Amino acid sequence: MRQDKTGTAQPSKPVAIVTGAGGGIGGAIVRRMAADGFHVAAVDISGRTLDEVVAGVQRSGHSAHAAVVDLRDELAVRDFVAGLPRVDAVVNNAGVFDERAFMDLNADDFTRHYDLNVVALFRMAQRAARRLPAGGKIVNIASRAYLGARNHAHYVAAKAAVVGLTRAMAMELLDRGILVNAVAPGLVDTPMLQALTPERRAAQLALQPTGRAARPEDIANAVAFLASPHTDFITGQILMVDGGKSLGGTAAL
Ligand SMILES: NC(=O)c1ccc[n+]([C@@H]2O[C@H](COP(=O)([O-])OP(=O)(O)OC[C@H]3O[C@@H](n4cnc5c(N)ncnc54)[C@H](O)[C@@H]3O)[C@@H](O)[C@H]2O)c1
Repeated sequence: MRQDKTGTAQPSKPVAIVTGAGGGIGGAIVRRMAADGFHVAAVDISGRTLDEVVAGVQRSGHSAHAAVVDLRDELAVRDFVAGLPRVDAVVNNAGVFDERAFMDLNADDFTRHYDLNVVALFRMAQRAARRLPAGGKIVNIASRAYLGARNHAHYVAAKAAVVGLTRAMAMELLDRGILVNAVAPGLVDTPMLQALTPERRAAQLALQPTGRAARPEDIANAVAFLASPHTDFITGQILMVDGGKSLGGTAAL
């Protein structure tokens, strides 16, 4: 684990952990939460794009630091959370996605998707929950795909698990006054979208009632709302941010 020295957390500011912070959606969440007044502890497995995200936040006069942590590593996550001066919000955004037809999937595909999308999310959430105060927020990034989608059953199953985990965590952590919600994005314009074949990308875009994918900022806005003090009476909810795609065919009528 590495934490840089330039942007160490100021205890007077609320601290938000954002995972997958070097990614397309994660970077937008870091920028938005830092602009909202959090010091952001920005976590990713590599510093490659993470450092650029954090440098951008610092250049704009807001507060963040980079932490290179593999979320599959129990001890690294423990040490990272213990090293923060305080924790007020956690955004579990890191995830993995790839496409494979159901008949081509194997057990390793499921394990890989569960290890990061579900088990690593649980690990960070539980560690952080030990430090969150009453009124603390956890926001998990699920996916609209949890409703079902072709060509990535392993991802669909993992994101359905994130939805169930979010609701279960909301029930148990309410005893501590911690509020837990999820954002379920539809198609978002990030490198993950570029992982689709051009044909699949075109087919996905054709299904969008809006005719376009979401911008990462559309997701960050929803996350910022659920992490804000304005949502102290909302917990266990799954907020679809999908331009109406989950409405099915009715959205196009
Ligand atoms: N892009 C979409 O269309 C879309 C749609 C629905 C949901 N989502 C979800 O949004 C989240 C972010 O997606 P994205 O499109 O920004 O993806 P991305 O690939 O751009 O970002 C994911 C980030 O997670 C990091 N990461 C991977 N393994 C890690 C590990 N072991 N430890 C720490 N960090 C690790 C990666 O380095 C990367 O920076 C994911 O949970 C994804 O499932 C994305």
